[in-house]
This record gives sequence, C-alpha cells and structure tokens, in this order.
Amino acid sequence: MKRVTDEPMADVRDMYMVHTMLRREFRLLPQLIRDVEPGDVKRAEVVAAHAELVCRLLHLHHEGEDMILWPLLLERGGDKTAAIVPAMEEQHSAIHQAYDKVTSLLPTWRTTARGAEALASVMERLLSTLEEHLDLEEKEILPLAAEYITAAEWKRLGEHGLANSPKKTLPLAFGMTMYEAEPEVVRAVLAEAPLPARLIIPVIGPRLYAAHARRVHGTRTPPRIGA
Ligand SMILES: [Fe+2]
Repeated sequence: MKRVTDEPMADVRDMYMVHTMLRREFRLLPQLIRDVEPGDVKRAEVVAAHAELVCRLLHLHHEGEDMILWPLLLERGGDKTAAIVPAMEEQHSAIHQAYDKVTSLLPTWRTTARGAEALASVMERLLSTLEEHLDLEEKEILPLAAEYITAAEWKRLGEHGLANSPKKTLPLAFGMTMYEAEPEVVRAVLAEAPLPARLIIPVIGPRLYAAHARRVHGTRTPPRIGA
C-alpha cells in the first residue's frame, strides 16, 4: 500500500544526527556519575544538570515519535508497519521504565553525591535499552518513514521538540546535536528557521557545547562515535 503523493517525502537524515547525540551522551553518563567523589556535591550538580538535559531531549524525542510518527506509519504502511511499530512502542516503554528510575534517583544524588552506583547502574540499563532501540529504528523505521511520511509531517517531529524545550537551553542542545553532524544536514534542519536563528545558532551552538563539554566531560572535544 504505497502512498501516492507529489509532495516531497521526509528527509530522515536529521534523525541520525539526533540519535548520534543521544548515543554519545548516554554512553558517557554512567562513568561520569561513577567518577564523582562521594559527597562532592559541586561536581554532582554539574553532571546531574547535564544528565537532566539529555534525559529531557530523549523524552521529547520519543514523545514526538509516539504522538506523530507511529500513528501515521500504522495508518499508511499496511503489513510492513503493523509488524514493526508495536515493537518500537514496547521498546519505548522499556526505555521509559529505566528513564523513570533514573529521574527518581537523580535529585537525591544531585544534592548529596551519595548513591552513585545505583544511579549509574540504572543509567546503564537505560543505555542498553536505548541502543537496542535506536539500532532497530534506524534499520526498520527510517526507510519506512522516507517512504510513507511527507517532509511536512516529518517537520512536526522537530517542531514538537522545539515547542516543548526551554528556550534557555535550546542553543546548547542544538550545539550538542550538531557536534557530529554533516554541515549539509544542519543547513537543511535550519532552512526554514528565522534568519537570525539560521545565522546565530551554527555559531553559538558549537561554542556553547564546547564550553559545556569542557565542564562536563573535561574536554571541548568529547570522543565522537560517528553515525
Ligand atoms: Fe528516533
């Protein structure tokens, strides 16, 4: 059941860019948490604020897929999507369970710097469910999205994230996401942004992320994982 439309279809390259950011930051988090000395609340605050930011980005990313992407794929993809979308939803719910555990342990660790091991191990569980999910989504869902979802519908995913992010952290979040991205994909993502954002974000985003990464990861250039 192929959708017949003259509209341009989704350019899914921006999804790889977001997934790469999520993989990189979530892979680094368990060790960052373990490296905080018990009682070092100053350092715990830096790492916890970062963890909170990447958790929020993950949450918004999945919320957008749940609300926008799965229903459209189920409506249009026939057998092809009926087989895979429920698996995606199950993975989202497994990730959500680990995510809830992380966000319940984070505030106490943040203010006391005690209980790092419990937090780090649940963060590892979150990471392994997330990686399994991102791999499967890239393999099975993104080709279907490019086939069944229009470019205009795809943009609603990004708009959902933008509309629900605190404006204060947006340039940093963008810089974090741009860190390993192809310049061409960044240009395509910003193509319809207002001119000031189009000019300013590619400059200040990477600077903000470099300063943030230095504070959090101890280097302005954390290890790249590649797409
Ligand atoms: Fe995704």
